[in-house]
Amino acid sequence: MTLAERARRVIPGGVNSGQRSIPGLTDLVIARTEGSRFWDTTGREFTDYHAAFGPPLLGHNDPDVAAAVSAARASIGLTGVAVTEGEVTLAEQLVELVPSMEKVLLTSTGSEATFHALRLARAATGRRLVVKFQGCYHGWHDSVSLNVISAPERVGRPDPTSAGILPEVLAATLVLRFNDVAAVRQAFADHGPDIAAVILEPVPHNVGALLPTDAFLRALREECTKAGSVLVFDEVITGFRHALGGYQSLAGVTPDLTTLGKAIANGAPVGAIGGRADLMDLFSSRPGGPVFFAGTYNGHPDVVAAALATVRKLREEPVHEHVFRLGDRVRAGLAELYRTLDVPAVVTGYGSVFVSYFMSGPQPRSYDDLLANDTALFVGYRRRLVDQGVFELPLNLKRSHLSYAHTDADVDRLLEATETAVRHTLAEGGAEDLENATTMGGAVR
Ligand SMILES: Cc1ncc(COP(=O)(O)O)c(C=O)c1O
Repeated sequence: MTLAERARRVIPGGVNSGQRSIPGLTDLVIARTEGSRFWDTTGREFTDYHAAFGPPLLGHNDPDVAAAVSAARASIGLTGVAVTEGEVTLAEQLVELVPSMEKVLLTSTGSEATFHALRLARAATGRRLVVKFQGCYHGWHDSVSLNVISAPERVGRPDPTSAGILPEVLAATLVLRFNDVAAVRQAFADHGPDIAAVILEPVPHNVGALLPTDAFLRALREECTKAGSVLVFDEVITGFRHALGGYQSLAGVTPDLTTLGKAIANGAPVGAIGGRADLMDLFSSRPGGPVFFAGTYNGHPDVVAAALATVRKLREEPVHEHVFRLGDRVRAGLAELYRTLDVPAVVTGYGSVFVSYFMSGPQPRSYDDLLANDTALFVGYRRRLVDQGVFELPLNLKRSHLSYAHTDADVDRLLEATETAVRHTLAEGGAEDLENATTMGGAVR
């Protein structure tokens, strides 16, 4: 029996997270990672642009991060009482770097951070409603588990990604179109006094990359301030990957709360929630705080050491310069390639993140625009890239990532492999078995 078969006998679906079981790749078992690469148990090598959905901005097993974790491990374990010097230093750095953060708390995952942000907002305002946007993902908890990658007929109404969510919880989340200022103004006109929080990915990367307009981010800030609602930027992907201060530092719009995760520790399991001190002081980490906050592994010394080493490297080395330059090269190269092949495509992204949508038209601004993407071509060319050892996730709309470990030679190879993959897909036809490759939570009806 193969390892993958053994896995399926004892692990539901054979994987430990919902979007890891990929149609056509169910026999894949990962053996090793290093830099920009991973290897499977049969010895096949892949250049990794999937990057675990985003954490390893420095590349896999970064030696400086690994050394910092080993040193921490040799001297300090988890005690579950008080605080450590590493936690203090990390919090000081986050407060210094991220414009909205006056105080910050650590979690183990991004989902915990967004969960706490919304519960805190409800507690602080005494209100019920949360606003999210179609296409944004904020983790697996009930208030935000809806309307991510929806089938066309599910856009414009509640589209839960999971069974088992109370209808009244779904009803307490309003889903709006991203970049739609009029819809935001209308939602506040209709429900302002009931809106506890507005949560968004400032760049919705869970559907590739929808770049926000300046007017949209400013309208959100304005309406939240006017109505007394809490504005939450979920920077779990954008934080550190696009800038050490998060996308907010680039956009010049400051939310009330910010959530971080993924790239802040280069792959170690960490999340963070920070923001206005008057809000953060409501958490029960401060004695008497009414909003319960706990977690056995919060601030684990290994993870804190990884985060501190990551911040140090991002501050001291030209990491962003490198990944932004490679990102520009990839986007320009892909756009040129599709022009040559005469394939309608929009190549977009930001910094180290890139994606090709197979559709014509201007830069997409909301999820509706992405419904024009040729899904069969998207999934089909991604599968053929994997066959060539270039790993971009073969699921609809998924973004790809560059790291400090990727090189110009990797980009050359990526462009060549993409040309082959797209040519073959056009000649032989796109993917047909799209059942589990196109939507998120598509089984919930
Ligand atoms: C924007 C965003 N927020 C929150 C989360 C949840 O983070 P985690 O998977 O660490 O719980 C994710 C995960 O992909 C994400 O992309």
